[in-house]
Amino acid sequence: MKRILLSLSVIALASCVQQKNAEQWTDAEIEQKITEVLPQLTLEEKVAMCHAQSKFSTPGVARLGIPELWYSDGPHGVRMEINWDDWGHSHWTNDTATAFPVLTALASSFNPDLAYEYGNAVAEEALYRGKDVMLGPGVNIYRSPLNGRNFEYMGEDPFLAGQMAVPYIKGMQKNGVASCVKHFALNNQETWRTTVDVEVSERALREIYLPAFEAAVKEGNVWSIMGSYNLYNGQHCCHNAKLNSILRDEWGFDGCVITDWGGATDTKESAENGLDIEMGTWTNGLTASTKNAYDNYYLAQPYLEAIKKGEIDVKTLDAKVSNILRMMYRTNMAKTLKHGRKGNAEHIETALNIAREGIVLLKNDNKVLPLDKETTMKIAVIGENATRSMMGGGSSELKTFHEVSPLEGIKSHFTKADITYSMGYASGPEIYGWVLPSKLNADSLKRAALSTVKDADLVIYVGGLTKAHQQDCEGGDRVSMDLPFGQNELINDILAVNKNMVMVLVDGNAVTMPWIDNVPTIVEAWYGGCQAGNAIADVLCGDVNPSGKLPYTFPVKLTDNAAHSFESEEVFPGLAAENEAKNHKEYYKEDILVGYRWHETKNIKPLFAFGYGLSYTTFELSNISAKNSSKTISVKATVSNTGDREGAEVVQVYVGKQDSKVLRAVKELKGFKKTKLAAGEKAEVSIEIPVEKLAFWNEETKAWEVEKGKYNVYVGTASDNIAETIEISVD
Ligand code: GLC
Repeated sequence: MKRILLSLSVIALASCVQQKNAEQWTDAEIEQKITEVLPQLTLEEKVAMCHAQSKFSTPGVARLGIPELWYSDGPHGVRMEINWDDWGHSHWTNDTATAFPVLTALASSFNPDLAYEYGNAVAEEALYRGKDVMLGPGVNIYRSPLNGRNFEYMGEDPFLAGQMAVPYIKGMQKNGVASCVKHFALNNQETWRTTVDVEVSERALREIYLPAFEAAVKEGNVWSIMGSYNLYNGQHCCHNAKLNSILRDEWGFDGCVITDWGGATDTKESAENGLDIEMGTWTNGLTASTKNAYDNYYLAQPYLEAIKKGEIDVKTLDAKVSNILRMMYRTNMAKTLKHGRKGNAEHIETALNIAREGIVLLKNDNKVLPLDKETTMKIAVIGENATRSMMGGGSSELKTFHEVSPLEGIKSHFTKADITYSMGYASGPEIYGWVLPSKLNADSLKRAALSTVKDADLVIYVGGLTKAHQQDCEGGDRVSMDLPFGQNELINDILAVNKNMVMVLVDGNAVTMPWIDNVPTIVEAWYGGCQAGNAIADVLCGDVNPSGKLPYTFPVKLTDNAAHSFESEEVFPGLAAENEAKNHKEYYKEDILVGYRWHETKNIKPLFAFGYGLSYTTFELSNISAKNSSKTISVKATVSNTGDREGAEVVQVYVGKQDSKVLRAVKELKGFKKTKLAAGEKAEVSIEIPVEKLAFWNEETKAWEVEKGKYNVYVGTASDNIAETIEISVD
């Protein structure tokens, strides 16, 4: 008996090892299979594979057992099921998902290991829900604080965005789920997003707007990329000859180019400029008047006929189908199909950890935080965002099992405190695309809040933005950088009654802070997903020491921002066209000077700087050195936790060229490393920077060039907190 049990356990062990190290097809096997399958497909079958059959699926070839491909949003978790043929929710009862924090929060963690865990967890949930392609991460650059989708992206610095996107993609794709990095490219606003025609210098394109995509392709080996709605130099990005040449010929991308939903606008351009899969073109699928509207897609009947007439080369079709099959052999036709899971403890823990590490402590005068967990004081929690659900925002919307609100988190952590809640202000219901005022009376809400704070020992104000239209939401930009719904007046009125305020901002964008001198404590909590309230309360009570750093600059006022400093429509959001059908020309006149690159070069002091974030403990950098060989710059520094509790610090390395022959930012982020240290502990951090990463794009020679001469290596813990600057020379 014992021998049988022993052998059974050996088999079981072998199978799970086998499962863990599950073999996949080699690249050579995949290319061989593509060669075998392609000739078996009819012209009609090949064309069908290049466009949607429903809102979120493309057909396979049933007679050959080639499966359909299923796509889902979004970057923060697997979206609820959408109808076959329109944007409505299908209202299934089994399509909940773990809601992870927004990618802005992930970027703020400056922790690539968390990004890997993030991608892995989302992929496991995608497998469980039967999805092959996940439409994320988004890596568009934070050019304007008004962009409605900044919360979905990873900030103003292309190096940070790339460093956080690559592990997310690797963590996802190791499960056999394709990541679809988006939106390629220059989709940095929502205003006129399908008709804005961006004119930008080649330098700014290559040094600011493309590097995160380049990293996704070259380092992340991303299996698909989503073309953006807008135009670049007069041609739609979903089928843009120049972008396609950079993507395929320069970067060697071998995956699928997928349109944004409705991003295709021309058959010949789609055929010949590298588009592989057309999704979401506005034909209302099965119910429109035409026979079957999906057949009218640009890459459907019109494409088939053009090939039959010899107007378009069938080679363009075989290239597309090869790319699609390659993505299939990596996903739903992989050698070993992995099984997923969702809503499990590990995913919830991952969501909580990312929310915790993304929180940025902006201000903590006279160390009001952390609060004593055992406190019995009267705490007044004020603000709609203490209870409002933050699962909307457009295509990144989610249906989660349970969303811990900030109020819920505060109550569960401060069990002995006398906590009262008053809403204070109301923003109105969230109807995608519409701004509907609240039915609640603003005065009565304010009066109730002011009477609540009157005899409280502490006020915890939880405000910020919402996921509704013209807030942090797809399909529109914000109309102002100010807090909406009368919050600034309410905050001032509260401060007049009670100065002991802890401010918690729940948002995904920079806001102005006219009250900042009177608010001693400010916590930037972003949208923290299903565990948001626990993460916030963990930080407020000190169970977690905040370690987040800002992934973008908080300007004092909107016109301090580069794109808005010109105060000209042609720079943002683009020139009004004669009529909607015409495109809106937009000129990125700030060129390469985006974010801190602008503020430092123009000497405009920000409210809070890129890379800034406080801690409950203190850190010191020492023994800083920078030595360069012909290939790499090796930076070393000792980080010491000089405070009385554990914490994590992010050493940041920036590099700037002295006396450059071209315009260049004072300094640019080229390396960072997060280090967790116990009280009193110290550690040596080393960061290697390839010399080739110092290059600028030379517009004359149309090539990357590393200038010879002297550079400054800036080592610090924020872009405006540099411990030492070391001069090196590159010859
Ligand atoms: C939307 C978004 C894109 C999303 C797609 C599918 O318009 O721009 O990010 O993945 O369509 O919902």
